Amino acid sequence: MQAVTSTLSGNIRAIVIDHPPVNATSQAVRAGLLQAIEQAVGDDETQAIVIACAGATFVAGADIKEFGKPPLDPHLSEVIHAIESSAKPVVAAIHGSALGGGLELALGCHYRVVDAQARLGLPESTLGIIPGAGGIPRLLRLAGIDKALDMAAGGKPIGAAEALEAGVADALAQDDVRAAAIAFAQRLLAQGQGVRRTRELPAQACEPQVFEAARARFQASHRGQLAPQACVDVAVRSVASSFEDSVAYGRERFRELVTSPQAQALRHAFFAERVATKPAGLPAEDAAPVRKAGVVGAGTMGTGIAMCFLNAGIPVVLVEQNEKVLASSVETIGKTYRNDVAKGRITEATQRARGDALTPTLQYEPLRDCDLVVEAVFEDMGIKRQVLASIEENLRPDALIATNTSFLDIDALAAGLRRPENVVGMHFFSPAHIMKLLENVRGARSSPRALATTQALGKRLGKVAVMVGVSDGFVGNRMLARRTRECYFMLEEGALPEQVDRVLCEFGFPMGQFQLNDLAGLDVAWRNRQSRLDRLSEREAACNILDEIVAAGRLGQKTGAGFYTYDAQRKRSVDPAISELIVRNAERRGITRRAISDDEILERCLYAMINEGALILGEGVASRPEDIDTIWLNGYGFPRWRGGPMFHADQIGAARICERIRHYASQAGELYWTPAPLLLAQARDGGAFHAR
Ligand code: 3HC
Ligand code: NAI
Repeated sequence: MQAVTSTLSGNIRAIVIDHPPVNATSQAVRAGLLQAIEQAVGDDETQAIVIACAGATFVAGADIKEFGKPPLDPHLSEVIHAIESSAKPVVAAIHGSALGGGLELALGCHYRVVDAQARLGLPESTLGIIPGAGGIPRLLRLAGIDKALDMAAGGKPIGAAEALEAGVADALAQDDVRAAAIAFAQRLLAQGQGVRRTRELPAQACEPQVFEAARARFQASHRGQLAPQACVDVAVRSVASSFEDSVAYGRERFRELVTSPQAQALRHAFFAERVATKPAGLPAEDAAPVRKAGVVGAGTMGTGIAMCFLNAGIPVVLVEQNEKVLASSVETIGKTYRNDVAKGRITEATQRARGDALTPTLQYEPLRDCDLVVEAVFEDMGIKRQVLASIEENLRPDALIATNTSFLDIDALAAGLRRPENVVGMHFFSPAHIMKLLENVRGARSSPRALATTQALGKRLGKVAVMVGVSDGFVGNRMLARRTRECYFMLEEGALPEQVDRVLCEFGFPMGQFQLNDLAGLDVAWRNRQSRLDRLSEREAACNILDEIVAAGRLGQKTGAGFYTYDAQRKRSVDPAISELIVRNAERRGITRRAISDDEILERCLYAMINEGALILGEGVASRPEDIDTIWLNGYGFPRWRGGPMFHADQIGAARICERIRHYASQAGELYWTPAPLLLAQARDGGAFHAR
């Protein structure tokens, strides 16, 4: 199949790119396009040209798989230059996504007709690179500097209506965008309008402060990342210099960034998410339809989960035992949607439809026609087993039951039921309607149909859904528990919360361990600790800093004090009372505190997680390292530009990690630090988690 075809009808030549899955500008497309445009320009019968795409989308960008390999001719900027140089008008017909090199291509056309549902963007910075084919100098000529920087440095795509308003699109099409583009081209010819080359438009003059303000903005929003700042550099050059020079400069910066560690990590993150959300052997065709869902337990999680369904257009029966809690949940949902309307995120009609789709109830019986019910009651095996039995009693035999348990054994939960094959885990993260991550949990008896349904449902809910196995804390919380333990040990050995948190934030986490604890509520962490006292080691049980803080009535942000104090705006301050409490705690327990270096803090946090990740892989609780990386990137704020914990482990190397784990074992004992077999094997054989 040819990647690019060209057909003449009347005096309009349609050049069509057909290169599944997303019409990326791989070498075959670039070469095909160049040849087709040269032919169209030299052909007397062609008076105007339309560039369109077959399949679900316009060109979604450069072929990311070609990055990091030797470049193949022709370069995309050469192809775009040829298009823009055409003396015959060229119209892009955009549907689906015009992203990265795809939008650059469209900006090189003289006009753009855009399907009303299309999205246009320069997401290169999310891959650690910048638009390499003149995207920034062209976009700022069409849409102005602010919009161009928001789109390129911010990496945020815009919709068709916004593109029209910004001058990026020339017309919107409601249905057949290719036909609309052809009609647009015919009108151009009829009106005697010729070409309009973006490169010939003037670049808006701009004060240096605008760029300085943009730099500061992107430093704050994209902390530690190189590409957004490079986008600003290119914008500065585009205003100060000729078009040709700014394109050459952008290309040079692209080349420099494309092989950078950040770009490699971000490319890994992109493909890891696509691998992780498609577990082997669970085709979407096997998924059962979910037309109506139930949620049992209208507390923090149940309320958020109900909104996930409503937001995806799935009606919800929300069951609670406590009338007041139910009313408060309904109020929270109503308030969220009122706020969404006020902020212009949804229409009043959508708000009404979502309200109508919610059935709050104190009875189980209305669950009878639900296709899937999520249980989100207290984290207690006895209560959950009772609730699951009541759910099953009221459901159709083919309907599925998902538990939102954080730590409990799904197999034990399903054991008392008549149809354990219908039971799975759907571990949402708080706040459930906001957080992207969903850990779907495979029970020993969960049927392939049940599992395929949770994966398909996750996608429908807009989640990044990763399938994991049964384990204490599954994947994410199990690894976090290891990091948490080390953080508390470091507090007793000599660190303070603000030092640990600073180190984690400097690494790139949005917040540190103790800031996270304060946000989630120290009572939650304390209850979790109490529930597992019988499983704690002697040292863990004795490490009671959390108990003392909770006993002082400091439960975190919600009480205005936890590891830190918070003002009415939730602004955080270090509290000397906590430093004293930690120091006194150590004195009382005969621990001589020492200075702990930032390097040690980072190593102990990361290596504890990586080692647990390696155990999780060895046990098959996660199937692939990509699954773990995806979980940490989407649920725990692991800096995306570091690729995820297992990718990061590869950058450090298994030999070094094992050596440091042995070092910490020599200080704290093998109970806490024993290299995972997988890491040991990698250290021995020079292996890695991801193929190099
Ligand atoms: N290169 C190579 N493969 C790509 C790709 C790309 N740019 N974009 C998507 N794919 C692949 C995916 O890996 C996936 O492959 P698989 O089926 O084997 O897993 C397949 O296409 C379908 O992708 P999705 O599962 O993501 O499909 P969706 O329909 O959910 O999303 C999309 C489609 C919105 C286009 C999304 O894939 C996307 O955002 N793609 C990346 C867009 C992007 O970042 N473009 C910029 C690239 S950099 C660039 O252009 C540099 C330039 O300045 C020179
Ligand atoms: P919560 O205490 O806010 O809500 C639980 C709700 O269940 C309460 O409103 C309670 O009245 C209700 N309930 C109890 N028994 C019931 C019954 N028999 N019938 C109907 N309703 C009943 O708890 P939260 O935080 O929402 O947690 C719920 C589950 O989600 C737990 O298993 C928890 O481990 C899990 N989870 C919690 C997360 C969090 O951050 N809070 C994150 C991920 C999972």
